[in-house]
Amino acid sequence: MRTQICIIGGGPSGLLLGQLLHRQGIETVILERKTKDYVLGRIRAGILERGTVRLMREAGVGARMDRECFVHDGTVISYGDEEFRIDFTEHTGSHVVVYGQTEMTRDLYEAREAVGAPIVYEAEGVTIHGADTDAAHVTYVKNGTEHRIDCDFIAGCDGFHGVSRQAIPLSTRKEYEKIYPFGWLGVLSETPPVHEELIYAGSERGFALCSMRNANLSRYYIQCALSDSPADWTDAAFWQELRRRIPEEHAEALITGPTIEKSIAPLRSFVTEPMRWGRLFLCGDAAHIVPPTGAKGLNTAASDVHYLYTGLTQHYQGDDEGLDRYSERALSRVWKAERFSWWMTNLLHRYPHMSEFDIKMQQADVAFLKSNTQAQSVLAQNYIGLPY
Ligand code: FAD
Ligand code: DHB
Repeated sequence: MRTQICIIGGGPSGLLLGQLLHRQGIETVILERKTKDYVLGRIRAGILERGTVRLMREAGVGARMDRECFVHDGTVISYGDEEFRIDFTEHTGSHVVVYGQTEMTRDLYEAREAVGAPIVYEAEGVTIHGADTDAAHVTYVKNGTEHRIDCDFIAGCDGFHGVSRQAIPLSTRKEYEKIYPFGWLGVLSETPPVHEELIYAGSERGFALCSMRNANLSRYYIQCALSDSPADWTDAAFWQELRRRIPEEHAEALITGPTIEKSIAPLRSFVTEPMRWGRLFLCGDAAHIVPPTGAKGLNTAASDVHYLYTGLTQHYQGDDEGLDRYSERALSRVWKAERFSWWMTNLLHRYPHMSEFDIKMQQADVAFLKSNTQAQSVLAQNYIGLPY
């Protein structure tokens, strides 16, 4: 088979890129290792920046999002029992929306199916060949038979554990990494959210986040030990711990119920450079990971998609500037998202061996943010998403 762009990975990056390219008349084939149900079963991000919202609309898949999303003009930050609000609209004139990654992925799958664009599920052994030559191709195995796709370019949208990044020789690739000594335990529960906006909470007992998916679906996270497993946490223990980390007023208002999902994610900062090797372009988690504090993971994947989609569209119009500068442009924004997520993680988490001095520094950082409108503006600009 031959196509213009072979996209490896049918997560949000691959699907969004495929849909945007389709609208430009550019052919794609998506190879996804898992089943559609598996991908849709993963509960991940919940906050979309304005740029991600714009791309969804540009891809022709914004209708349900525009109808069902919640607009958030600000967020609450708490530290112990003290809390304050950061007003995004006041500082930036913009906002974010609550719309789950699961819903976004579902909309993109439906749109792809509606236009009949090919997607191969359960593609095993995906292998990239000749990415640094003019004969780039990808092979994979489906139902025991090997297939080959010849293409102009390969988009590596296969997440952190994918094969695309590994196809770039170590002599060319440089990786930067920071592993945090804690994880996030997340639950989903069919209960009304504790507050109409998100609460990012720092406390002596560690971080907590109160988020939501809709009026009767709440998403809560607490910082946990890396050695914990979801089975160690009964629902009652989770709710009790969450209550102890958020201001009393919210702890009293919290409505609890059975959890319908419970999982632990480790926290990591990671960037690989460059994001292009010959005809292979990395996009999203395949190239970088942020700790989830600040909701940048999915949104940074979307900004990569923007740069790559623009570059590929220009290429087929005879101009290679966008492709030639893809890695530089994407990385410039990626590093700023890395900085923000790292800073917000440090602001609100308890590290295992924090000294009294470290704690004083954290308290001073929070106090400065609480009292300084310019510091609030910096947070707001980063949270709603840096321009691209
Ligand atoms: P992925 O979503 O990882 O998609 C990659 C796809 O490629 C997957 O479908 C995978 O099955 C497929 N694939 C992998 N290897 C191969 C292969 N060899 N061949 C073919 N296909 C392959 N971000 C936030 O902003 N907020 C959050 O709360 C949040 N929570 C998260 C929780 C977890 C457990 C994880 C892992 C991530 C979380 N993130 C969160 C990050 C966010 O979900 C990601 O940034 C986003 O999913 C990136 O999209 P992607 O398409 O680049 O990668
Ligand atoms: C959610 C996750 C985040 O990491 C975040 O910063 C905000 C919201 C969520 O899953 O709702």
